Amino acid sequence: MIDLNKYIREIPNFPKEGIKYKDITPLLQSPEAIKESVAQFLELIGDEKIDKVVGIESRGFLFGMLLAEKLNAGFVPIRKPGKLPAETYSEVYELEYGKDTLEIHCDAIQKGERIILHDDVLATGGTARAACDLVKKMGAEIVQCNFLVELTFLNGRKKLNSYPVKSLLKY
Ligand code: PRP
Ligand code: MG
Repeated sequence: MIDLNKYIREIPNFPKEGIKYKDITPLLQSPEAIKESVAQFLELIGDEKIDKVVGIESRGFLFGMLLAEKLNAGFVPIRKPGKLPAETYSEVYELEYGKDTLEIHCDAIQKGERIILHDDVLATGGTARAACDLVKKMGAEIVQCNFLVELTFLNGRKKLNSYPVKSLLKY
């Protein structure tokens, strides 16, 4: 088994002073690391029946789509405001400074569908929580929230305490 840690690069002071940014692009360059990541996600999901994988723009689209294909599920994008063309539901959430919004197509998820929520990184949890709230309001069941990387010191998991949270790599 290959060690995925080796494929995550830390960039100091990005996007601002004092932040150690976890860059997943080295992992994306390696076919072995991609395959290993997908295999590990599938192991975390087990034999749960999944209807849709919901990926959060933009980096949640990368593995989200690969997982959907493997799980024989559909893929649903949650996007930043103004990007989705049809009727949307939206959720406003707090950032460190200010607010942001996420949107989903109203017809993307049916009541009772079983969902995996996926993103690349769980940091403060604000983004994932807003995404979960959207999916929940549509009457779906969140089977798991999964992430490639979890920044445990930011306690994002706490914001998702009503959902099962799994991550491949913890820092
Ligand atoms: C990053 C990351 C997660 C989110 C995590 O996305 O990909 O989506 O932040 O942060 P949080 O847990 O504190 O909410 P970003 O907004 O940088 O956009 P991108 O995916 O389009 O690069
Ligand atoms: Mg993101």
